Amino acid sequence: MATEVPAHAGLRELAVAAARCTACELYERATQTVFGAGPDKARVMLVGEQPGDVEDRRGEPFVGPAGRMLDRALDEAGLARNEVYLTNAVKHFRWKSTASSKRRLHQRPGATHIAACHPWLDAEITAVRPRIVVAMGAVAAQSLFGPSFRLTQHRGELLDWPDPHTTVEAAVATIHPSAILRAGEKRKEMQAGFVADLRLASRV
Ligand code: URA
Repeated sequence: MATEVPAHAGLRELAVAAARCTACELYERATQTVFGAGPDKARVMLVGEQPGDVEDRRGEPFVGPAGRMLDRALDEAGLARNEVYLTNAVKHFRWKSTASSKRRLHQRPGATHIAACHPWLDAEITAVRPRIVVAMGAVAAQSLFGPSFRLTQHRGELLDWPDPHTTVEAAVATIHPSAILRAGEKRKEMQAGFVADLRLASRV
């Protein structure tokens, strides 16, 4: 049973409604819905993939290892975390267990999860009225620009926003901060690229 997204709602009302969302099966195994966070009139909105293990327990986006990487990059790019709105394309943690450990392993959300959660992301964009949206990673980019969007082709470009009926003037697609954490010897280079993409967004 899907959950209705309330029309013309502010962020608080949306978060309360999203907490009851059953539009896909991910709510069954997640601890809670992790809704977006940040000022309700932020000029920059950053969209990630889905909450991770730490976010799922704490109920806030980007408060685990990827969040710490993001904080460092925001700082270098001259953006303050408390002036951007942070959210995810999918608002429940998708995970699998392994026989050998108690750890909950991240599983990438599928197309059905991205589509089921999309109305919440749209409602956040309508409520926050950002001028620029940054998609971090392929899941966020595909949620915002459609399944045929290729991050490898458009990463770091200033993109037109597909919906003219919003306040958004432009968008930037970039890598996900978790990719930097996994990058090994390319870490510095990837981090510098990520910071450059955030700087581009902050300049618009
Ligand atoms: N990764 C994401 O995409 N979002 C979070 O909130 C945390 C990690």
